[in-house]
Amino acid sequence: MSSRVQVLVGAQWGDEGKGRVVDVLARDVDVVVRYQGGANAGHTVIADGRTHVFHLLPSGMLYPNRTCVIGSGLVIDPDQFKSELNGLDPQPESINTRLVVSYGAHIVMPYHKKLDALSEGARSQRGGSVIGTTGRGIGPCYVDKYARLGIRAEDLVSPSSLKEKLRANVDDKGKIFEKIYGEPAPDFDELYALAAKWGKMLAPYLGDSTLEIDAAYSAGKNILFEGAQGTMLDVDHGTYPFVTSSSCVAGGAAIGGAIGPGRIDKVIGVSKAYCTRVGSGPFPTEETGSVGDHLRKKGSEFGVTTGRPRRCGWLDLVALNYAVKVSGINSIVLTKLDILSGLDDIKVCVAYKMGGKEYSAFPSSATMIGQAEPVYKTLTPWKEDISGARAFGDLPEKARDYVRFIEEATSVKIGMIGVGPGREDTIITGF
Ligand code: IMP
Repeated sequence: MSSRVQVLVGAQWGDEGKGRVVDVLARDVDVVVRYQGGANAGHTVIADGRTHVFHLLPSGMLYPNRTCVIGSGLVIDPDQFKSELNGLDPQPESINTRLVVSYGAHIVMPYHKKLDALSEGARSQRGGSVIGTTGRGIGPCYVDKYARLGIRAEDLVSPSSLKEKLRANVDDKGKIFEKIYGEPAPDFDELYALAAKWGKMLAPYLGDSTLEIDAAYSAGKNILFEGAQGTMLDVDHGTYPFVTSSSCVAGGAAIGGAIGPGRIDKVIGVSKAYCTRVGSGPFPTEETGSVGDHLRKKGSEFGVTTGRPRRCGWLDLVALNYAVKVSGINSIVLTKLDILSGLDDIKVCVAYKMGGKEYSAFPSSATMIGQAEPVYKTLTPWKEDISGARAFGDLPEKARDYVRFIEEATSVKIGMIGVGPGREDTIITGF
């Protein structure tokens, strides 16, 4: 029996509805792995009438008997981890046998959160644009990872290593806090006690995620890699510097999830039927008037991690095509198609105007993307409520045309369509 490996990525600016897609796909997989990011993510799953929000745990946790892995590419907030585990209801028996936290995942310390806030404050004082981070300490934690100063999950259960690394960090952050920001240095004893407490809590879940995933692959198990955030927030390929600090694209699964790229069978890109973004940065199809208000209200577009209203706009096919290329997406899931019902007209962006010229490809220059003006094609709207559709043929003709238009523009088949928030509000057209 051969293993089937799928990677699921956000094809926009995050919040595409990946949690709910993972929840649907998890029926047929044995292992679900998160490979990047941290508690900045907010994956919502509505199952059996209950809403579950996961920031750190893989969305596959709702199914019994699935192994869930937090890979070494993540940055973990242990308090958040604990509160999500406690929130699982009913508490699955022996959860530690099916949840593995990589020894190599990095730990978000209180000083990372403080630095996140201080550096956003400094940006604003300099008169520059703030990134609009989630304030979860993500950027500063990844900074320490790449500076090789970071505290990893394994250190929490090794007192000597924890002491040595924590001393170095308290020293380093103490200087930054006092000399740059005029703030008190972090307290070693306080942090050590907290980290040791976290170590006790995390110990039953710690494991070698690389070996775990390889063993699952060799045993012919089906593995799903669950991306967080989205292509346009990827640190290398997104709208830098208005990005997160990890690799959200499919390649990130190979690195932070420990799957050899040659083992990946399928890359699924999740896109809303329109676009949203939270935080600052370029968003060419943003609608600040009544259309944006309609999408925000009808689509409940408020961040699940920060509660911030999301910026809303039309579907951007230039950006979607870019995501298809960067991640090698070979199947698209289109979510929230129902939110477009009832609009007077529907537009999709098919090109950008930059410097007086029209381009159909997404630019990798941050300066250019900042100047991009959308070129729209207007499509015929539909008025019908489509939330009860369960097969492609149940959709009104104009909604089907919309789906086909996206397939033609991207040359990728749409395998699943979301028509409502619940597990069952899904049209599966072919996976
Ligand atoms: P950070 O990841 O908290 O550093 O935030 C960096 C940028 O990514 C900000 O614009 C955030 O709003 C955005 N961001 C981070 N996580 C998510 C997410 O899960 N969905 C949407 N935007 C996100």
